[in-house]
Amino acid sequence: FTGAIKAIRGELLDFKGVVSNPELLPENVRHVEDGLLLVEEGRIKWRGSWEEGKNLIPADAQVYDYRGKFIMPGFIDTHVHFPQLEIIGSYGEQLLEWLNTYTFPTELKYSRKEYAREMAGIFLKELLRNGTTTALTFCTVHPQSAEALFEEADRLNMRLIAGKVMMDRHAPEGLLDTPETAYSESKALIEKWHNHNRLSYVLLPRFAPTSTPEQLEQIMHLKEEYPDCYLQTHLAENQNECAWVKDLFPEQRSYLDVYHHYKLTGRRSTFAHCIHLDEEDYRCMEETESGIAFCPTSNMFLGSGLFPLRQAQASNVRVGLATDVGAGTSFSMLQTLNEAYKVMQLQGEKLPPYEGFYLATMGSAHSLDLDDRLGNFDEGKEADFIVLDPAATSLQQLRRDNSRTLEEQLFVLMTLGDDRNIYRTWVNGTPVHERN
Ligand code: GUN
Ligand code: ZN
Repeated sequence: FTGAIKAIRGELLDFKGVVSNPELLPENVRHVEDGLLLVEEGRIKWRGSWEEGKNLIPADAQVYDYRGKFIMPGFIDTHVHFPQLEIIGSYGEQLLEWLNTYTFPTELKYSRKEYAREMAGIFLKELLRNGTTTALTFCTVHPQSAEALFEEADRLNMRLIAGKVMMDRHAPEGLLDTPETAYSESKALIEKWHNHNRLSYVLLPRFAPTSTPEQLEQIMHLKEEYPDCYLQTHLAENQNECAWVKDLFPEQRSYLDVYHHYKLTGRRSTFAHCIHLDEEDYRCMEETESGIAFCPTSNMFLGSGLFPLRQAQASNVRVGLATDVGAGTSFSMLQTLNEAYKVMQLQGEKLPPYEGFYLATMGSAHSLDLDDRLGNFDEGKEADFIVLDPAATSLQQLRRDNSRTLEEQLFVLMTLGDDRNIYRTWVNGTPVHERN
């Protein structure tokens, strides 16, 4: 070893790699009760047991002793809106009314760079204190909102995917761009931020109702010019939304076909929600290798519906987990798993704890095409990880005392857990959050 080594000791938990069939997850769990990670220059150098690894620790290494706590890869939130953190828990509406009543008026405030910068700082801190080390994040239509978030994330060395929203109709004047400015402003941001340190750019048509066909065509050009940029949008979240899209694009067979027509599907494209898709849509998702962001707290809060996770998996479509704050009601991926479990229950299905933690880490990494660098502790992966206190409250401790297996402990965490369980968050081989 050459650089400065950090040695991290604790109960390691991750998955061997991408697992397409959830039934195979139990045999793909890697659990080392007394484990060790060696980290050098922001990357995992070595992982294994303390016994095997202790002799590899250089004399001058810094040792972090987290025995009694889990060490897991950082959570990956595949769909979240940074300007919406201030409207979490806004009362009484479903999607389209919620957008007009709460979301659009709030997003207008982000035309001010100073304001966006202040909120970007709060947003990233909130991610980290919840153990989320990577997120695909919507900003507002204002390029300065994306600038503010990129600057803050760069300072923290986070792997973040973000971009400016594009919309040129059906929203207040101050939130509209045009086909031309959507193109030129996004292009300028891509040139500046895409692949800059750990940052990536995502093209963000808000959803089909707020983009004209002319704008979708410009976005198609951007996608062709920058094929390794991400694309994300909302799809088939709410029945009224779906009916509206049918009216606006009568020539397209389905909502997904609107995006597919403009070549916005693909390996680096992920679609949030996808509650109301049909068989043909799933075939299109599979053939184009598009991914889905599963947003359980949001879908329950807005009364949007139940995401059919098993159908998506049976169709071979990659699925990641997402908070969708501020329609989502928590930044915590543990609370998001709590809600995901209930979404499955309401469909007569289960969400086993290994699958829950897989979804929040490796599964989400895979859905964002980041599994070559994030998602588990393979050597060479980026050292973004969390230290989880398995019993942060007296109730959690009591329940844990009555848990016999690892799976049971994890299930208690995904039911009762939240930000209080996030003891430390590490980004790029450096601690960035310490619980008080
Ligand atoms: N559809 C279009 N915009 C939004 C948004 O901001 N949040 C959610 N949940 N759905 C959307
Ligand atoms: Zn959303």
